[in-house]
Amino acid sequence: MKRIRSIKSMQRVVRELTIKKKRLSLVPTMGFLHEGHLSLIKRAKKNTDIVIVSIFVNPTQFAPNEDLKKYPHNMKGDLRKIKKAGGDIVFTPDAKEIYPEDFQTYVTVEDLTKTLEGKSRPGHFKGVTTIVSKLFNICHPDVVLFGMKDYQQAIVLKQMTKDLGYPIKFIIAPTVRERGGLAMSTRNSYFTDEQRKEALSLFYALETARNMVKAGKRKTAIIEREMKAVIKATCPSAKIEYIAFTDFNTLSSVKSIRKDTICSLAVRVHKVRLIDNMMLMQHKKLK
Ligand code: PAJ
Repeated sequence: MKRIRSIKSMQRVVRELTIKKKRLSLVPTMGFLHEGHLSLIKRAKKNTDIVIVSIFVNPTQFAPNEDLKKYPHNMKGDLRKIKKAGGDIVFTPDAKEIYPEDFQTYVTVEDLTKTLEGKSRPGHFKGVTTIVSKLFNICHPDVVLFGMKDYQQAIVLKQMTKDLGYPIKFIIAPTVRERGGLAMSTRNSYFTDEQRKEALSLFYALETARNMVKAGKRKTAIIEREMKAVIKATCPSAKIEYIAFTDFNTLSSVKSIRKDTICSLAVRVHKVRLIDNMMLMQHKKLK
């Protein structure tokens, strides 16, 4: 496995691999890897000859009040995990390499970033789309993989890929959960064991929603009320930022559950902001 830090070397290696007709996949990450990230790498390995994993804690997607400075890292551990999962190249640029002093070009997706996470975290997606398009330009992948855990991010990036004409196959892979159901997330590492149990409230709320839908309930207002009650009961100090019922592709809000409705929520659990989501009616086949 090769570790590459500079854009120039990355581009040279990619050129050589392309001449050899190798198919490349890219898994962008911010490091401190867990099984969710590794599931993307393993799936990438099945799809292509060479798997590139990028590790870059992207400053432009963090607001000034967010956790950029304390975002956890463990490069040594990450490199070991990537190797074991089948990664071939790890791209680890530093901030100056990606954003030199005179940097001034950004990529923005308009409508899809106006709701949910985009509304709660203004400027966040502009940072995400900018770094990911830059990574696409540097790595020229044939296939990219993103997690359903950050579902809006995946939908926004899919739109960007289409709008900017990148010839890249886009895969959205299912959320990997801990045994109890908590969606794996780097930010779970901020919790004590007790808090981690309370963090399960998001999953319990989503399960409640899915069960209500299974039982024939369709009105989102009623389901939302029940979800709020579950969160209050299982994590009394939780602060719900939003619970949303939207169409999977357009992100437009729905009042009654339909086939492609996804429920997503953002909740602060002991100051840690968590997000999760679930398809409520059918198990949507993820491409
Ligand atoms: P990061 O949070 O490190 O996540 C990297 C990738 O792993 C994303 O595609 C994310 O959706 C996926 N992922 C995270 N938790 C997962 C889980 N439990 N199951 C499955 N996949 C999971 O998302 C980012 O980094 C950044 O915004 C990035 C795209 C790298 C741009 O900076």
